[in-house]
Amino acid sequence: MDDNLKAVVSSNVIILAVLPTQLMGLIDSLKEVISKDKHILVSVVSAFNLQEISERIGNEVIIVRAMPNIAAAVGESMTCLCSNPEHQSSLEKIKLIFDQMGSTLIIPETLMSSATILGACGIAFFMRYIRAASQGGIQVGFHAADAQFIAAQTARGATSLLLESGNHPEREIDKVTTPMGCTIAGLNEMEHNGLSSALIKGIVLSYNEIKKLK
Ligand SMILES: NC(=O)c1ccc[n+]([C@@H]2O[C@H](COP(=O)([O-])OP(=O)(O)OC[C@H]3O[C@@H](n4cnc5c(N)ncnc54)[C@H](OP(=O)(O)O)[C@@H]3O)[C@@H](O)[C@H]2O)c1
Repeated sequence: MDDNLKAVVSSNVIILAVLPTQLMGLIDSLKEVISKDKHILVSVVSAFNLQEISERIGNEVIIVRAMPNIAAAVGESMTCLCSNPEHQSSLEKIKLIFDQMGSTLIIPETLMSSATILGACGIAFFMRYIRAASQGGIQVGFHAADAQFIAAQTARGATSLLLESGNHPEREIDKVTTPMGCTIAGLNEMEHNGLSSALIKGIVLSYNEIKKLK
């Protein structure tokens, strides 16, 4: 359906998924048909908080904020969700929708910007790691497609180990770093060149950029 007003009138859950610069205009065009008795509004827009959205709508419709990532396309999103404390039952309902697209976590609203960086932007950060690993793989002998396959599946394996065991990453690293071996030599070289530091600084800088999105 490409008519927003008709879509809102015929729905109970409205998901707002436009750019931050488009959100307020979209709300203005919809607010006359948004009903506090019928609708739950879900915003995936990072830069606007519950209070700002609520004030713009001008009624007390229930609002949930959700921060998914593009792995929703393959059922592997990490989606963080929040709402006002008095709307917990609606939040649980919306969580059920996002549960179909991957994993979900209910968080306080104060952490939604952090969730945007770690979860939504995080896809790009991990992609860049996999691309770099693939490029290294090519230099040590693999064709590009095989290098990418090995790097991506190895990333998936590392991820599954953590998610299934709940272990700290360093515990898994200890299992593969033979004393005086090639793994620790490579790992230390990466750290000498700022691997962990670059990731942490990038995450913090991204976080500080969020307020410029409006
Ligand atoms: N990308 C991510 O990984 C990600 C993750 C979590 C949350 N978010 C958030 O999700 C939002 C969208 O991000 P995006 O990357 O998907 O941006 P995007 O590709 O630019 O998508 C925005 C979409 O909104 C549509 N749109 C704009 N105005 C509209 C209106 N009045 N009525 C109906 N549709 C309208 C646009 O359609 P037209 O192109 O036809 O105008 C476009 O399809 C952003 O607020 C972003 O912060 C993104």
